[in-house]
Amino acid sequence: MSGQYVHGYHPRESQRLNDQAGTLADLLHSDTAFPPGSRVLEAGCGVGAQTVTLARNSPGARIVSIDISAASLAEANAKVRAARLKNVEFVRADLFAASFEAESFDHVFACFVLEHLARPAEALAALKALLKPGGTITVIEGDHGSTFFHPDSDAARDAIACQVELQRRSGGNAMIGRQVYPLLAAAGFDDVQVSPRMIYVDSSRSHLIDGFTRKTFTAMIEGVRETAINAGIIDAARFDAGIRALHRTAEDDGVFCYTFFKGLGTKS
Ligand SMILES: C[S@@+](CC[C@H](N)C(=O)[O-])C[C@H]1O[C@@H](n2cnc3c(N)ncnc32)[C@H](O)[C@@H]1O
Repeated sequence: MSGQYVHGYHPRESQRLNDQAGTLADLLHSDTAFPPGSRVLEAGCGVGAQTVTLARNSPGARIVSIDISAASLAEANAKVRAARLKNVEFVRADLFAASFEAESFDHVFACFVLEHLARPAEALAALKALLKPGGTITVIEGDHGSTFFHPDSDAARDAIACQVELQRRSGGNAMIGRQVYPLLAAAGFDDVQVSPRMIYVDSSRSHLIDGFTRKTFTAMIEGVRETAINAGIIDAARFDAGIRALHRTAEDDGVFCYTFFKGLGTKS
């Protein structure tokens, strides 16, 4: 089992995951489509933020989306029904111990899940066991170490470091994106390929200023304010200065960059 999920299950976090998915759908998923008739496991679907895109892009595939959180699954289910998608089944399950038949999926998809797990290598081994020989896995992760912005700010870096530290204390790794290749290779997948997907935001890309810099990244860091202060990692004034500095990067002369890592591998 994983440690505590650092972002929590608050409605505000659910909204953030949806904003994030909407903004990133093209960048992350435009090249993901599963053939008609294939059986796809989405591991750690959360509130279904990626599920809708997956199901839409692969209308003939049968998608089984699992999560350990019943509340998140209920929200994901409502979202998929509202989108009138019929090719998704939701199952409450722990990806480390899911009771599916071995080698019964053609594809496994996991987005922003390994970063929350204390044992990502074991998670990949468990998911690999569910794949048919010849099946493929898609893993998408961010890496907070890939964050840079203008104007630069030490306070902003300190606020981001709070999130990284809290995730570490929960057993996760907010900088796991750089490990997608070695993790997939060590799990024994073949033909591993990782493509970095940089999101670059300046004032000519106004939808990303709101959708990514403010409502995805800065909202995520803001979300750990109380926990970080209560844990004594930072004081309120420094944290708030960091958040102001992150918002400052969303002004006309500001720039914000972040890189996601999308990995593919095949089970021989
Ligand atoms: C950051 S959310 C990502 C949700 C979704 N994939 C997305 O991209 O929006 C991580 C999800 O992994 C789930 N999770 C964590 N450990 C899990 C486990 N052992 N088995 C199944 N789901 C797990 C959490 O409940 C949470 O919903």
